[in-house]
Amino acid sequence: MIGRGSAVLAAAILAGSSVLLVRPAAAAPPGPGQQQQQEKRPVAEGYGGAVATVDLDASKAALGVLRRGGNAIDAAVAAAATLGVTEPYSAGLAGGGYIVYYDARHRRVHTIDGRETAPKAMRPTSLEGIPFDDAVTSGLSAGVPGSVAQWELALRRFGTLSLGEALKPAIEVASRGFTVDQTFHDQTASNAARFKDLTSTAKLYLPGGALPAVGSTFRNPELADTYRQLGRRGGSWLYGGRLGAEIVATVKRPPVTPGSTRTVRPGLMELSDLAAYRAVERAPTRVTYEDNDVYGMPPASSGGSTVGEALNILQALPRVGVHEYLEASKLAFADRGKYVGDIPGVPLRQLLSEGFAKERACLVGERAIPAPAAPGDPDGSYGPCRAVPPESQKPTPAEGPETTHLVVADRWGNVVAYNITIESTGGNGIVVPGRGFLLNNELTDFTFGPAPGDPNLPGPGKRPRSSMAPTIVLKNGEPLLAVGSPGGSTIITTVLQILVNRWDFGMTLPQALAAPRATQRNTAQTQAEQGFIDRYGPELTARGHSLVLNPEIGAATGLEFLGGGRVQAVAEPVRRGGGSALVVSGHR
Ligand code: GLY
Repeated sequence: MIGRGSAVLAAAILAGSSVLLVRPAAAAPPGPGQQQQQEKRPVAEGYGGAVATVDLDASKAALGVLRRGGNAIDAAVAAAATLGVTEPYSAGLAGGGYIVYYDARHRRVHTIDGRETAPKAMRPTSLEGIPFDDAVTSGLSAGVPGSVAQWELALRRFGTLSLGEALKPAIEVASRGFTVDQTFHDQTASNAARFKDLTSTAKLYLPGGALPAVGSTFRNPELADTYRQLGRRGGSWLYGGRLGAEIVATVKRPPVTPGSTRTVRPGLMELSDLAAYRAVERAPTRVTYEDNDVYGMPPASSGGSTVGEALNILQALPRVGVHEYLEASKLAFADRGKYVGDIPGVPLRQLLSEGFAKERACLVGERAIPAPAAPGDPDGSYGPCRAVPPESQKPTPAEGPETTHLVVADRWGNVVAYNITIESTGGNGIVVPGRGFLLNNELTDFTFGPAPGDPNLPGPGKRPRSSMAPTIVLKNGEPLLAVGSPGGSTIITTVLQILVNRWDFGMTLPQALAAPRATQRNTAQTQAEQGFIDRYGPELTARGHSLVLNPEIGAATGLEFLGGGRVQAVAEPVRRGGGSALVVSGHR
């Protein structure tokens, strides 16, 4: 256990452990005249703007925009669109996402919700009885895309570029191509069985029936053309126009390969659903952990509320160690499941209140609470510990590495934390013919049911509950940190663990991202990476936890303001093949 105020000691202990930390590459800032910016490396420090994404081309796209005088929002949109080219199985114009944005001029945090919505024809029973795997590859799971509306809103409200200008770097990468790396190859391979069953997808991602070879150049001229036209015509081309009509046609009649035995269910989306779509500005969630104001994404994301509640629970405890981290997460997930969804009346203020956190924290003892723990009662009246009996056992949900996250800061001090997704790695597996992009299967984030009273059942126009948790931290009103991660519901625990690593375990941000992870989401078993099991397995098992291997949890990105205008951008050193951090200048 690590007591408060023992951060320095903790850092020393952690640094001395050969198994705990995957050591990040040294954060060597570029020397005078050095051109280190072209290399993929996980940590960069400097001035004038910074970016971290999972991909070098996307980071370069953002850096180019920053260097040409664009701001953090411009750069974030450019990077997101480029990820739609180079990370097309995680991001794309037919997906959705959440932006948390710190506006330096007005010293305010905003959020922009670009989450996909269910079509108007969707009902609470629409997914009932459908095997999850069938829904994954279907028109039925395709939500109304949110990304393009989100880009337009973000640029209009806070950016300086037009959509067409912001798409230019992505058009360039799609036209000239990018180098296929092991991650892209492996993600294509794991999708190949379904990609081959869809003509448009096989044509794009299995050219000549084969996987793109590592080291080869992958071009996507159709996507380049789609982006070009989108830039010229604007979002209305999708939200009610010709591109939208093609999306609807694809959702309703997925292009199944002749002779394939795969059943690909059609979807319910109509052009009117696209025309009705709006990206929305929402007030961020906020909790204060020690002196840090932590801002996140409100419902229908459960990111801000669950990270925030867990931090509040930890703050109510006398000591914070890995046991407490897992227990706080377990309790917060119990409350997430019961209360959070795209419904009126989510008790957000109470879920994030100190009183509720104290009541939940007093359940945390020496031994692990049996999971699944029951939800608490965020009713505004909090007293002594309310013991709640455990709920009946549910299977541990599988979570893949899907989704992606990027961070950008600019020379003015604006900051973006941006989570982007098409849900499964490879979305619903269906490329819109001739357009070069995959559709999302975000509606599989709904509860399939029957589940009376579940806040996350599907419904007309509803946004499926998300776990995406782009997070910005202010200290004394100034930006301090930005962080986020992919990984389905493990996003929440990854963000939480990184913050706990940074603040309670005394790690640097690169160490906090690299350190082995564990994810407790109110399930009987806690999934953990091998390094975590090696380091903490015996201690946690003795306290009643059951750890099970998850080989990789969350390829995160983050940045930290180090003082005097110096920013440290941080990507993964190893997970998902390692990410790319870049800064505008190594010098003031
Ligand atoms: N599709 C991942 C999430 O929204 O949590």
